[in-house]
Formats: sequence, C-alpha cells, structure tokens
Amino acid sequence: MSNYFLDFSQRKVIGKIEPTVFGSFIEQLGRAVYNGIYEPTHKTSDSVGFRNDVKKLINELGVSIIRFPGGNYVSSHNWKHSIGPIDKRPVDLSLAWTERDPNLVGIDEFVPYAYSCNCEVMMALNLGTGTFEDVIDIVEYCNINNSCYWADERIKNGSRQPYNIKYWCLGNELDGEYQICHMSADDYSKKAVSAAQIAKTIDPNILTIACGSSSPYSAKFPAWDKTVLHETFDYIDFLGIHAYFTYPDLNNRVDAEFFGSAKMFNDYIHTCIKLIKEEKEARKSDKEIYLSVDEWNVWHTFDGTLNYKTPWGCGEPRLENQYDYADMLVFTTLLTTLLNNADYVKIACLAQLINVIAPILTQKNGSVLRQTIFYPFSILANSVKNALSLETLSYLPSFKTKKYGEVSSVYSNVSYIADRDEYVVTLVNLTNEEINLDLICKHNATLDKIITFKTDNIHIKNTFDQPDNVKPLTVDKHLDFSDSLNYVLKPFSLDFLYIKNRKE
Ligand code: AHR
Repeated sequence: MSNYFLDFSQRKVIGKIEPTVFGSFIEQLGRAVYNGIYEPTHKTSDSVGFRNDVKKLINELGVSIIRFPGGNYVSSHNWKHSIGPIDKRPVDLSLAWTERDPNLVGIDEFVPYAYSCNCEVMMALNLGTGTFEDVIDIVEYCNINNSCYWADERIKNGSRQPYNIKYWCLGNELDGEYQICHMSADDYSKKAVSAAQIAKTIDPNILTIACGSSSPYSAKFPAWDKTVLHETFDYIDFLGIHAYFTYPDLNNRVDAEFFGSAKMFNDYIHTCIKLIKEEKEARKSDKEIYLSVDEWNVWHTFDGTLNYKTPWGCGEPRLENQYDYADMLVFTTLLTTLLNNADYVKIACLAQLINVIAPILTQKNGSVLRQTIFYPFSILANSVKNALSLETLSYLPSFKTKKYGEVSSVYSNVSYIADRDEYVVTLVNLTNEEINLDLICKHNATLDKIITFKTDNIHIKNTFDQPDNVKPLTVDKHLDFSDSLNYVLKPFSLDFLYIKNRKE
C-alpha cells in the first residue's frame, strides 16, 4: 500500500483519442524534404526519389496525418511553381529560411507519398504573400474531380483522381513578427474568413484550421486567439496553436525547470478551451470548435542548430536537434497532456517528422535513426488511436520550479480500448526518487505487459554509432490483481502498462 494513487475506476471519459492526434509535420526546410524523405540517389529510393527506409520508419512511428508544406515556409510559397513537368519547375527562394527550393517535391509528389505512408495530408495555405485566387486554384486543383481549369491541370499532371484533402490550415503563425506578411489579429481574421469561405464553397467537406497563437509565451496570447475566434467562428472548425519547449534558462539548464513544461502546455490548452467555450456561449451556438495543436515538440536552440552559415542553400542541415533521454521524458509529458485534453484536442502534429526537430534522423546515402522521442510516440500511436482517454483521481508528489511553480512529479494518461477491454496506462516519473503508487481500477484485472526504458544517464542519446542506447524493453507479466495494483516507479522512468479487465 502507498499513500500515492492513481484511480481510474470511475471510467469517466474525457474524450475519444482521434487518430489525427498522432499527426506530424514536414516543412520545406533543412533536410526534411531534400536529403530527408527525398533523396533520389539513395539505394532504397523509389522511382520518384523517396527513401523507402524512411517510409518504413514513418509507418512504424504510426503517424496518421502530415501537415505540409510549412510552417514559416508557406507564407511566401508559390504552389503553382511546384506542379507540372519537373524539369520546367523554377527554383524559388524560401524567404522564411533563406533557402533555395527547386520545387522537386510539390503537391503531385507529396500527396501520393503521404497516402502511401497511410497518412492523410493537412495542407497549409499561403495567407502571407498568397492571394485569394491562389486559394481558389489550389483547392480546385486538389479537390475537384474534373472539367474545370485547375482540376484538368492536375489530371494532365498525372493524377486522374482528386486528392480530396480534408484539412486546410488558414496560413501559418501570422501573429509572429518574423512571419512573412504577419498581420494584426483583425486583418488576419478577415483574410482567414475569406479563405475559409472559398475553400468550403469549392468543397463543403473541407475543415479549416485558423491560426491561433504561435506560442504560449507570445505576448499576444491570448488576445490574438480571442479575436480570431470571435471574428472567424462561423468559418472555422479548429483553432490551431503551436508550442515548443526547452530549458527556460538556456544559460543554466536545470532539468527540473525543463520538466515543468507540460504544466505550461496544459494551461495554454485550457486557456484556449475556455476562449472557445466563452465564444460559443456568447453566441448561444451549438457549433463545436476544436483544437489543432498543429506544431508541438521539445525544441532546443542552445546547440547552435539555428546558426546556419550558408544562406540560400538547399537540403542542408537546419534545426537538427539530437534528443536525449530527458527530452523523451518531457516529450511524453507533453503527449500525455494532449491525450488528457482529448475532448478538445482532436488534431496534433509533432513538429517535425524527419531531420528537422524530428523523431527520425537520416544520413545522406546512409541509414536512419530512431531518436529517443520516437519511442513514446510510436508506442502510444500504435496502442491508443480511437481509444477513450479517461479522467483520473490522483494524489501524487510534486516539486517546485521557478518558472512553473509547483509541478507534479508524475505525469500520466489512462486510455481505455473498449474492444480489448484493456487500459494503457502511461506513467512518467520526473524525479530521481522511486515513487510507490497504487493504480486503482476496482475490478479484477491482469497486468499483461509493461513497456519500459532503462538508463542511468538521463542525457544519453541515440547516435548512428550507438542507435540503441535508448530503446523500449517489453516485459510480459500476466499478473492478476483485484481492485488495485501497487507499482513502483523507478527514478526518471517511463512506463507503459497494459492492463486487461478480468471478468470472473
Ligand atoms: O517547425 C519549425 C517552425 O516553427 C515552423 O516553420 C514555424 O511554424 C514554427 O515557428
């Protein structure tokens, strides 16, 4: 018996975990596309130039939807330059990232590629330099069957069937002053309303995502989001928010401070949910607006990955974070936060997917690497899509941080998979002490298996030379118990418990 407990016996549902919560993001940036997914000279590449070894890992990761083509990149992107015969495509400058884009991976390459990875596409519209005519044309190109100019162009370019892209982002981070053509919340809202109206007129099945805040730390948050929700309410389906976390003080990297990130993340999400509810209430509306956390991750900038020296290059390393075990713990607390808000978080895109702040790293002409953060995403994506995220009652220890105040030592999520009558319990211990916990389900049950990690160095990383420094261990248990299970969380541990109800 322990003082600390996590009780999920009430089986109170927060929400269904939509598969789209396990989304990701590929931007035309660094080695995400060129020398990432696309490397025609690689020995595993297909006839278009996509690496099959990378595709295999995308499948293993369990990604359900990929946002494309940006990010900041999209705000000066001319989509019409990225279609048609490859040898006739112009080279463009990516203003956001001071890179060159030869436009070798456009809509007709990327969308079929994503579909072949069993992923949907979340297309981002250019609401920076882009015009409303561009919006009409791209939606027509992607989603209209035939017999109009841009649909017929798509057919000429080899795709008989429309792509039927359902999710469309109305621009990217237009609140940020670094964003090409950034604007006020009022100006953005006007542009977003017209773009959404155009998209939904062309294809009423389209769901639109408005730009909410680019960061919980933004000085414009939450005023920006409040205005956008108020002005665009009738035209949008999701408020899209972004959040990246690192050590709050980059000159003094205290793990415990970084470990508080999910508290900020949760507050951010809750503030947005409150704004949505208030706007709905003020209008006496039945319409639901959900959250799309369409960029989230741990992102460190202290290692110089932002200081690129060669402007206007292409396919060179940018923002290639190497994630360690501690990053994996924080990453999992962020992921459990998304799942614990499954009533409103219906889409989330891990930013990004390949090489750029990503779970997968590639070597040019070489192999692929699963970074530490690959594992919690893949384990949960392959276990709890369509499961029910459950409310818990808990009494847990906590620790103090300067930045985030009192933070729980244990982050958890309990998901229930109805057709297997099984719970998946995710447990992260953020402290260097053992925590003795009672898991209460008030039922006869069996602890079937545990997926766990072992390390005595929380700053260890996976490298191409030592790719298995951090990897999951599966322990088969088949341990029957009644009502509650006493479980000891090891210091700095990450465990996934698979618990089946037993009817007897
Ligand atoms: O994911 C990297 C960048 O982070 C994206 O381009 C931008 O939207 C965000 O600021």
